[in-house]
Amino acid sequence: MTDQQPRRRVIANNKDDGDVKTDYASTTSTEAAHSFSIIDILRIVAGLMLLNCLLSYFITNDSLLWGYKPWFIRPAVVLRYIQGPIHLTDAQLLAYNGTDPTKPIYLALNGTIYDVTAGRRIYGPGGSYHVFAGKDAARGFISGCFAEDAVPDLRGVEWTYIPTDVPALGTPGVTAEQKSYREREVRRARKKVREVLAGWAELFEGAKGKKDYFVVGVVDRAEGWLDQVEKRGLCAQAERQRPKGEGSTVEGDAGAAYRGG
Ligand code: HEM
Repeated sequence: MTDQQPRRRVIANNKDDGDVKTDYASTTSTEAAHSFSIIDILRIVAGLMLLNCLLSYFITNDSLLWGYKPWFIRPAVVLRYIQGPIHLTDAQLLAYNGTDPTKPIYLALNGTIYDVTAGRRIYGPGGSYHVFAGKDAARGFISGCFAEDAVPDLRGVEWTYIPTDVPALGTPGVTAEQKSYREREVRRARKKVREVLAGWAELFEGAKGKKDYFVVGVVDRAEGWLDQVEKRGLCAQAERQRPKGEGSTVEGDAGAAYRGG
């Protein structure tokens, strides 16, 4: 006998008893709701996930996760995680510039090394961005002077984004107003440098987009390495392309359109 039967009897014996009927109704609906809540919620969640994946696939035309590729579904990333990060000096990094086809292609940005072998056509010899391969050319990523600025020294490169009417540091006779204008613009430009580099780093991490790039390690540099390098000025091309006056700080950056992969 099931546990439903005694209750049915109760209701039969108390046909006119409104309270008992109410009790019966609420007991069965509570049971129904209870069994519904566990299995059906799981079904709904699974259904929504499936729908989300299908939508993503039809809209992006190739990805089930809206272009996002978590590290655990990327074998090369998992393998690198197990092996641990590699450490190379700037000189050692040069060996990975794509000229040796048996080696992967690496580039570095701000001290982090990325495997960009998946972009051999772009970074290999003869490729349009071969200049970045085997190097940390963070400065060139901002100034756009790829060959000349293929170095990690970012000092002063924020002037790429500072309007030409901002008085240069060391200019004599600068008013308090000009000074605060300069401080404001320098702050804004430095923030932009960070954002632009973060945008490139996102591409090279490969977690989004179509390129299968990934982080492999770090560049080892001696403490205080930057003090040993002569400070450089803004390259001519970046100087020419500086915004022309107050309020003309550019919103995007020259390479932004190409980071989507
Ligand atoms: C600061 C300025 C710029 C930087 C740092 C930069 C950097 C890069 C990098 C690193 C790539 C390769 C991305 C990847 O691995 O998928 C790329 C691709 C590309 N860039 Fe630039 N870029 C800049 C400006 C420009 C400009 C102004 C143009 C056009 C006039 C341009 C045209 C292209 C094209 C067409 C590609 C695709 C190359 C290909 O798939 O073969 N870039 N850019």
